[in-house]
Amino acid sequence: MSKSSEQSSIPIICLEPNKSGYNSLTKIQQNWLEQNDFYGQSGRLLALPNAQGIIDAYVFGVGNFKQRPPLILAQAAAKLPAGNYSLEGTIDQPDLAKLAFSLGTYRFDRYMSSSKDNAQSKINLADIQGTAQGFDEMQTLVDAAFIARDLINIPANDLGPEAFEQKIHKFAAKRNMSCSSIVGDDLLAQNFPMIHAVGRASSEAPRLLDLTWGSPDAPKITLVGKGVTFDTGGLNIKLGAGMVLMKKDMGGAANVLGLAHAIVTAKLNVRLRVLLPIVENAISGNAFRPGDILPSRAGISVEIGNTDAEGRLILADALAYASEEEPDLLLDMATLTGAARVALGPDLPPVYSPNETLARQLVSHGNQWGDPLWHMPLWAPYDGNMSSSVADVNHIGTGGQAGSVLAALFLQRFVGNVGDWVHMDIYGWMPKAQPGRTQGGTDQGIRAAYMMLKERYR
Ligand code: BES
Ligand code: MN
Ligand code: ZN
Repeated sequence: MSKSSEQSSIPIICLEPNKSGYNSLTKIQQNWLEQNDFYGQSGRLLALPNAQGIIDAYVFGVGNFKQRPPLILAQAAAKLPAGNYSLEGTIDQPDLAKLAFSLGTYRFDRYMSSSKDNAQSKINLADIQGTAQGFDEMQTLVDAAFIARDLINIPANDLGPEAFEQKIHKFAAKRNMSCSSIVGDDLLAQNFPMIHAVGRASSEAPRLLDLTWGSPDAPKITLVGKGVTFDTGGLNIKLGAGMVLMKKDMGGAANVLGLAHAIVTAKLNVRLRVLLPIVENAISGNAFRPGDILPSRAGISVEIGNTDAEGRLILADALAYASEEEPDLLLDMATLTGAARVALGPDLPPVYSPNETLARQLVSHGNQWGDPLWHMPLWAPYDGNMSSSVADVNHIGTGGQAGSVLAALFLQRFVGNVGDWVHMDIYGWMPKAQPGRTQGGTDQGIRAAYMMLKERYR
């Protein structure tokens, strides 16, 4: 393709390690590939210069079909300079290709003096044949992911409980969602004792945000997200290595907001509610302590075993509140345990549900859309590990084993009469980049949950 042609986008030709796909290239181009040792290997991007030495196309290696990560095309976008591009060649699923490529444009550079060079919005992708026209579902899912990533990446000095609440009001207003909040001592007056206890030591008051959208007659679905803007561990203070990433402890809330964006933009036939308990787990003279016994909204008394297990406490009050209107589906996301990472590593969040069919559906949607999850058990016999000699329950187990399962079992006690309940123990962070995910804050569970909801409430 020559520079003088009317075409304004530069083609990216996707190639497998398979000689037949190379026939569309000129002899000169084929030689160039050979000289550069390019044979369609996974993730390799190579510029194709024309006779004048001007780049007028790229080849991109998508690797063998069997080993191909769903979001492989993100690797191309991550390496390209600003410009207009089109995709050609081996594209298994046009929607997925578009999703992957667009996810690959993510950058978080707003704190860098050089951020004016930001390429994110300057990499444009021409329509791919076979992708839907009109409502742009893939772009919506990309936006959803970037909402989550941005919120996680913003440091706690710019996203404490007050700033987070302000952002959420703006988020809601933009999407015609109603939004209210219960702040500080009002949490005590309105019976959210554990949200208050966890957040009261911070200079910014704890709060519960409550967003709703959609027809009151539609099936009720409620999302709950852990919004710990920073987790010091409280009096059971974390060591430096464990604390350094704790700006991401609102990753559940961030991902729930991303998912809410997708649900609202797609206009799914639901009455959506989003409950976000937002606190900073800080240390001061009025901090809650190990050994304290807290009342809870559900009426269960909770003995505090460790103030660093704060997430399950604020979620418990929010889940109890959510249950009061008996929603058809209650889904929570939380950066809840280090134990989930010990079990499955950072890329694979555990998903729990008493409805095993639903959990398996989520896993399967996730695999298809580059959003992997792993089904873990609500293993009831372990529930006894949280018994207390002075309260109805202790919120951590003895022995330090199966920590993610125990946290899920603790939450389950506070889930009332709901249709289905799903819990995701997400990490919200990529220690190193992977196809479709830059290093840093990451979206988890959004696409899996969205596709499940779409199937269930279309
Ligand atoms: N936010 C952490 C969990 C976490 C830690 C997620 C590191 C991702 C990476 C949570 O509040 C926490 O500290 N949990 C404790 C619980 C323990 C005290 C029972 C944990 O997992 O160590
Ligand atoms: Mn903690
Ligand atoms: Zn935490």
